[in-house]
Amino acid sequence: MEVTSLKAPHWIAGYEVNGKIKGRKTKNSVRFGKVNFYVFTPDDVDENALKTVVGLAERGELEILNPEEVVPHIAAKLNSSLNLISLLNKIEKYICALIGAEAASILVHKGDHLVFLVTEGGASGKIESIPVPMNSIAGTIFLEERTLIFNDLSKEKRHFKGVDKAAEFTTKNIMGAPIWAGKNKIGVIEVLNKEEGFSEEDAKVLTLFAKLIGKKLFNTLENERFRNLIKEIVLSIASAIDKRDQYTHEHSRNVARISKLLGRKLNLSDKELEELEVAAILHDVGKIGIPDSILLKPGKLTKEEFEYIKNHTIIGAEILSHLKHVTENMVLGTLEHHERCDGSGYPHGKQNGQISLFGRIIAVADVYDALTAKRVYKEGWSKEKVLQILKEDAENGKFDPKIVSALEELLKEGAL
Ligand SMILES: [Fe+2]
Repeated sequence: MEVTSLKAPHWIAGYEVNGKIKGRKTKNSVRFGKVNFYVFTPDDVDENALKTVVGLAERGELEILNPEEVVPHIAAKLNSSLNLISLLNKIEKYICALIGAEAASILVHKGDHLVFLVTEGGASGKIESIPVPMNSIAGTIFLEERTLIFNDLSKEKRHFKGVDKAAEFTTKNIMGAPIWAGKNKIGVIEVLNKEEGFSEEDAKVLTLFAKLIGKKLFNTLENERFRNLIKEIVLSIASAIDKRDQYTHEHSRNVARISKLLGRKLNLSDKELEELEVAAILHDVGKIGIPDSILLKPGKLTKEEFEYIKNHTIIGAEILSHLKHVTENMVLGTLEHHERCDGSGYPHGKQNGQISLFGRIIAVADVYDALTAKRVYKEGWSKEKVLQILKEDAENGKFDPKIVSALEELLKEGAL
């Protein structure tokens, strides 16, 4: 039997043939032959399926799925997410595309109020610390346990303006639904600003979406809480080691922050960034094995003493290598943070191609923080001066020029 009509794959929101639109227009489109397909997200597009449906679309025989039918497919994509930030990014991207809203946000219940879970976009750092009261719109949705639409905010007293102000955003209309993980009510998802206003159909889509993401969000939040706890424990150990060495107690924390920023500039994945952060926090953990008489010796070290100090890289790598979830990259980051690309570093005098990316990144972050930081015995040098030194050293083959350029970009952006 010949197939004469087909339901559209779930990534198609609508399509346009000869200027006529069927279904919905989204911000993303893919042109194929004479047909312009509107898709939820460009990364979902399946070229082979497009080839199959293009003829049906031209003959008007392609049936668009209704948004409710699409929601389970979209929600199912959230299962492979690694961390909270990427999960939130995806949730916000998908729900905005599904409903045609400008923005979305997620709030979780904490004590007697709600707080925003924020991605790393524009509102980051501005709204996550603002407690949203329970008599607000989000609070009402949470307490009444149902999806609500607010298409006219002008007379709505419950609209909490504190957030708009902090995020420099103007909310025109809102729809929100409570999020459940099994029997636990954990928060609220809101979508904001749909030009023509939110409809009952939109409400059904959001309600279903909120229901399907609840468990995943709950588990990710729990994992995040546990990972943060581990990170705090690791940081307190590193900070104790820093203090012993007359470093500022913030040294390990700083090296971790700078390394992570550098890693992001170099397009490392979320998983790699997390590993890099922990490796950077622990880069000097091997100093635990260096006696006070050498580590704290005032004045110049003898040749033998300096040789002893060099061992902190090997001791650190040894400590890390015994931990079950520590990767090879993390061990190498600790082992190689004093190696230099021209072979002049320690402990092994490795050269450029032999030093891991983690080792090269932590090396730059370590020197940058050590030189800019104020110590008991010295003032901190200016950022410009330290950058200049690092650039010259990179030119002379000591540091990876790619990493020093990334550092320069971060300084220009004011991230450091
Ligand atoms: Fe070190």
